[in-house]
Amino acid sequence: MDREKIVVIDFGGQYNQLVARRVRECHVYCEIYSYRTDLEQIKAMKPKGIILTGGPNSCYEEGAATCEKELFEIGVPVLGLCYGAQLMMQILGGHVCKAPVREYGKIEVTVDQTSKLFENVSEKTICWMSHNDYIEEKAPGFRVIAHTRDCPTAAAQWDEKGLYAIQFHPEVLHTVEGFKMLHNFVYRICGCVGDWKMDAFVETSIRTLREKVGKGKVLCALSGGVDSSVAAVMLSKAVGGQLTCVFVDHGLLRKNEGDEVEEVFGPSGPYDLNFIRVNAQDRFYSKLKGVEEPENKRKIIGEEFIRVFEEEAKKIGAVDFLVQGTIYPDVVESGLGGESAVIKSHHNVGGLPDYVDFKEIIEPLRELFKDEVRQVGLELGISEKLVNRQPFPGPGLGIRIIGEVTPKKVRMVQEADAIYREEIAKAGLDKTIGQYFAALTNMRSVGVMGDERTYDYAVALRAVNTVDFMTAEIAEIPFEVLSKVMNRIINEVKGINRVFYDITSKPPGTIEFE
Ligand code: XMP
Repeated sequence: MDREKIVVIDFGGQYNQLVARRVRECHVYCEIYSYRTDLEQIKAMKPKGIILTGGPNSCYEEGAATCEKELFEIGVPVLGLCYGAQLMMQILGGHVCKAPVREYGKIEVTVDQTSKLFENVSEKTICWMSHNDYIEEKAPGFRVIAHTRDCPTAAAQWDEKGLYAIQFHPEVLHTVEGFKMLHNFVYRICGCVGDWKMDAFVETSIRTLREKVGKGKVLCALSGGVDSSVAAVMLSKAVGGQLTCVFVDHGLLRKNEGDEVEEVFGPSGPYDLNFIRVNAQDRFYSKLKGVEEPENKRKIIGEEFIRVFEEEAKKIGAVDFLVQGTIYPDVVESGLGGESAVIKSHHNVGGLPDYVDFKEIIEPLRELFKDEVRQVGLELGISEKLVNRQPFPGPGLGIRIIGEVTPKKVRMVQEADAIYREEIAKAGLDKTIGQYFAALTNMRSVGVMGDERTYDYAVALRAVNTVDFMTAEIAEIPFEVLSKVMNRIINEVKGINRVFYDITSKPPGTIEFE
């Protein structure tokens, strides 16, 4: 039986991935496609339902993102959200124009509880609104099923046709009962049964990989991060010793990290695979000598990584498959899925395939969101510690050291970062803060230690929470914890005599401190 699927049609809204994630949290598989996708292609996927996302345009403007009228006639339920709702109304004969009152933020919505969409939803419920235009007149055939003080048509439905339009955003958490609404759409309206479960995914993937690889040789570049680790373990469960993992230690990892990766994936670890660790620290340090500019450092580290991997790949010789830890947001953000522009081109989108002698790429996590990759990791029996690893940049500490990278500075930032992480965990904050780390500034200043004058570096502590990595809020760390971290760093790490706490959000900062 084919896996059931909901298709999200992306009109350029900022929450496109969130919509798909929420649907998957309902245990229904979901994929994002641009509004430019051919209708025949969408029909051929036999979706159980279609969701139209929000978008930045006004649907009555020339050249605004649109879709064919036929989309509403293929007999599959359609849910329009915000721009998607307005577009549905406009195309089907309603009228959309600039709203007399712009709604933004948490707004009380009164819903018609007899609608299938609002089953078990409170009559008055808080929803997230963000719109300048509104549905002035609903299209014929529809009935209004929700309103607010300023918005007479906050939702409308045409029950027999399975068409639903809502002005607010059920996918964001500010819409208190939004998940229930999406759940209702998927189960009560689209009739899904919920066959997207991670244990089943793991089982099927292992079987499919085994069949695909046959007796072939597989090569994987292992970074120790979540994605490549989960991909490697999945392959090792599928084909065991036919898999070789190359781990390049560039000397820019966190304290003890290289050894930790070796413990898990090396010969004394639990997995059946060939593990090659390349200790290339000195090569990287010498290439980075005298380089201060962060983009240059990124380039040098990226290129050197390729060189080292290339040399190893040559020793191994031809392989049949190369494993990559691509995940679904990479697919969407590189412009292949939805509408969003290429945002993170610098993130691990490498040229690996160009220089390895291989026949085909395998991307076992290509369909998954990050939280799903973590679930798959746990299903595969990988330790929670590894699975819940924080994001760590490919160029590693190379970019968390401002200015020139030297082995001495690497040691300083490694030690400071380890102390910081240890104290955060001791204070029980490690589960609540999204990402936190120490970075070494390029500033030296005078201090006093015992009776000695010092002229040493300042370290910066960073801690943020983020939902989508595009924006981030500062995580508040209690003063006692900061103070303890400061004391320990100054006492235990030679070369550091000041500790800063970076309170910059993103924007205007970035999450990394580079
Ligand atoms: P920025 O600093 O751009 O970071 O706000 C956003 C998120 O991406 C992580 N990051 C990277 N991840 N390779 C990665 O895999 C990279 O080169 C890289 N640079 C930044 C960063 O830690 C944050 O989570």
